[in-house]
Amino acid sequence: MSDYILGTHDAELARLQLQHALWRPAAQAAWRRAGLGPGQRVLELGAGPGLAALELARAVGPAGRVLGLELSPAYVAAGQAVAEREGLEQLELRRHDLRTDPLPAEGFDLLWCRWVAMFLPELEPLLDQLAPALRPGGTVLFHEYLHWDTFGLHPHGAAIRRFGQAAQRSFREAGGDPDVNRRLPALLAQRGFQIQELRPLPVLGQAGSMAAQWMGSFVAVYGEQLQRLGLWSAADAAQAAAEVSEAQRAAGSYWMGPTLLELRATK
Ligand SMILES: C[S@@+](CC[C@H](N)C(=O)[O-])C[C@H]1O[C@@H](n2cnc3c(N)ncnc32)[C@H](O)[C@@H]1O
Repeated sequence: MSDYILGTHDAELARLQLQHALWRPAAQAAWRRAGLGPGQRVLELGAGPGLAALELARAVGPAGRVLGLELSPAYVAAGQAVAEREGLEQLELRRHDLRTDPLPAEGFDLLWCRWVAMFLPELEPLLDQLAPALRPGGTVLFHEYLHWDTFGLHPHGAAIRRFGQAAQRSFREAGGDPDVNRRLPALLAQRGFQIQELRPLPVLGQAGSMAAQWMGSFVAVYGEQLQRLGLWSAADAAQAAAEVSEAQRAAGSYWMGPTLLELRATK
């Protein structure tokens, strides 16, 4: 089953891999700031095919444990296959629906969640389970968006701008909140968490950069889904493609991504 709006097809898997490569340094810096180290127990929410979980598993080593919870059985199978191939017994991917299934209470040291809370129609039932899942003094670390409206291609990206609006609308119509990290810090504070870090993570890149490839591939891959949803048209897609080609020729053009927020809190 997958009623996850971005889908789990091969093109989306390839897009997630590019996305992870672009954001890997930011994730690794966040894990360092959170004190990730050998022997720790990490819970990942919405782990996808286990791209971050694999690196977390290497960081905690054989004495640690990483449990990645994920809705899509195809992603769980892909992640488990990598764990087995790499001989990482400390890594487990498990089928789990964050909307309904209870979080395992295993006294985790660190909970990691990236680009997942934005898809959840209700946050409160999940947030109420965070503290019980952690050891006393444990840490939660979110990389979720704060300001999707910064998504754009400058200076000539009218269709790309409309694409960003259509993407946000699709997330909201599916019950999510693209700017969910505006609310998460206060919701955690209400649950007794101490906010340790609020760090904006902007991304920007000229044609040919990894950032530009990531955003261009998002427009191409998710554009098809937006057309199926009636939020984007073939004419819009053609105009967006023309803007992307023009930006590749015009010096000084650049993409800016939706702005991410690193949120770290302890309980
Ligand atoms: C944009 S991907 C991010 C994947 C991964 N966190 C990463 O950083 O690469 C969002 C993931 O959240 C998962 N997801 C969405 N809703 C979920 C739910 N209710 N329960 C569990 N996972 C969910 C999707 O299946 C998808 O793998």
